[in-house]
Amino acid sequence: MPTIHITTRNGSDTSIAVNAGVSLMEALTEHDLDVEAVCGGAASCGTCHVHIAPDWFERLGPREELEAMLLDGLLNTDETSRLGCQITLADAHDGLTLTIAEVE
Ligand code: FES
Repeated sequence: MPTIHITTRNGSDTSIAVNAGVSLMEALTEHDLDVEAVCGGAASCGTCHVHIAPDWFERLGPREELEAMLLDGLLNTDETSRLGCQITLADAHDGLTLTIAEVE
């Protein structure tokens, strides 16, 4: 069961143990970390936007086209932006570190 480290929107740090096989978005919503996930994981709302720690970004693999298009339409993205709903957590993600993006 991997543990991921999160900086929330209010700036506090927390760590949660997650189940492999669920999406990052699902893990964040299950732990009430203020991720709305309006579209339910369809990569169409942007409310699961997170900033991945730079040393983890490459390890997650590239963004898919749909995810990249959605991120292009958001204002507060950076080079480490990802949609939590498009990342399936695995045991190899133990230690993943991220910041939940501000709501636009
Ligand atoms: S939950 Fe809507 S884009 Fe991820």
